[in-house]
Amino acid sequence: MTAHSASWYAQPAEKWPEPKLKGHTIPGYRYHSKEFFHDEWENMWTKVWLLLGREDEIPEVGDYQMEEVGPESILMVRQEDMSIKAFYNVCQHRGARLIFNDLGTVDAFTCPYHGWRWEIDGSLTFALDPEDFPEGDPCGKLKLEPIRCETFAGFIWVNMDPNCVSLQEYLGPIWDDWAPYEIHSWKRYLALTATIPCNWKVILDNFNESYHLPTVHPQADATVEENYKWTQFDMAEEGHARMWMQSGIPSRSLIERGEELLKPGLAWMLEQWDLNPDDFRGGREYETREALQKAMREKGPKMGYTHFDNLKDHQLTDTYHYFLFPNFAVSLWADGFHFLRARPHPTDPGQTLFDNWWYAPAPEGLTTPVMTINGPVERDAEVEHEVFQYLERSLSGLIDQDMGITTGQQLGFRSRAYKGVYLAKQEHRIRRYHELIDEYIEGIRPAPKRSSAIAAE
Ligand code: FES
Ligand SMILES: [Fe+2]
Repeated sequence: MTAHSASWYAQPAEKWPEPKLKGHTIPGYRYHSKEFFHDEWENMWTKVWLLLGREDEIPEVGDYQMEEVGPESILMVRQEDMSIKAFYNVCQHRGARLIFNDLGTVDAFTCPYHGWRWEIDGSLTFALDPEDFPEGDPCGKLKLEPIRCETFAGFIWVNMDPNCVSLQEYLGPIWDDWAPYEIHSWKRYLALTATIPCNWKVILDNFNESYHLPTVHPQADATVEENYKWTQFDMAEEGHARMWMQSGIPSRSLIERGEELLKPGLAWMLEQWDLNPDDFRGGREYETREALQKAMREKGPKMGYTHFDNLKDHQLTDTYHYFLFPNFAVSLWADGFHFLRARPHPTDPGQTLFDNWWYAPAPEGLTTPVMTINGPVERDAEVEHEVFQYLERSLSGLIDQDMGITTGQQLGFRSRAYKGVYLAKQEHRIRRYHELIDEYIEGIRPAPKRSSAIAAE
């Protein structure tokens, strides 16, 4: 095989049906108008499934996780029967917040104001001076306000709309795509959360296109076919998107630029699977992907990567980048999951709570470090969740590059000179999700429940 052979990309993923775009121009007010921010909250955020918690953070009865999204704080609590329930973190007496910690364990939630006791199932069992309430003892009458809550891939998802469709119906093709990876058993190896001075959509716009890879991340083509001509882009009817990049090979862009094909990143990858990079130099550079697939198929399950047996060959090496409407992006590999989430600020459209996390399998007995976006982490490490302001510390080299752009773009969106976007086709996933936001604001979405979803409830 020569370096110019095309056979390395002979395993196409199945295409999703292509939805029609309306041609949104994405004007600047969408990123800084308080009115638009309010419309998004009322009509979109409160009607979608949101990835909010992680099952393994709350393994025991009474364990809770508290997460914030916009003006809401949400409690996810492990129940006696080991199921998980979610509630708004607000006392039904006079509105006090019950919990201020991200994680903890309780017998019950005792309100810090007047001491009302809310059981972990949301029922009220103690109120001070119950005889003094003209409308009767609130115990047995009031409950914490529940939120729809389901789990998938080890994550806890909530939906503030009590009439929403099931999570599986909402996720559409993502559900089947992710199931073979067994992500529920993966462990978190990086947890950096920062407040970024830009609207949440500027960040998601960026994670919805790969057009910026050669310019913002010139280092990225070492192990990935990042040239758009060889990348597959998909958009689902449900609003989610997928980008498939073949990996474990040099990018074709390197040929166009006349650069060395087998760069150190790819050599490192080969060595991880006991392949000698020198065997692939001098014309065999494009055989690396197939060789990696073979080695991973053979050695992976013995190392504890038992889910490799569920994966197709291209899933062993390739990068699948998913966007889950509205605020979650992830790069998924056979052995890693780059978690990128942007949550809106409670009041300011110009700020975002951004999570840059990493998950990876943690098979028993495996001692090789996990390679995260922020460098290697020991497989048995206990990773601390760090929360900080933008620029207080690095979010990792690659993400710092992205945020340097998005924070500047937020400024550009306020300019009278910004007239709206002029998009390449490879950026159409951005247009698509903006059109979906409008469909929520206009009341076209959420679509009415399908009969199958109603029957399942
Ligand atoms: S506000 Fe919670 S007990 Fe009064
Ligand atoms: Fe980027």
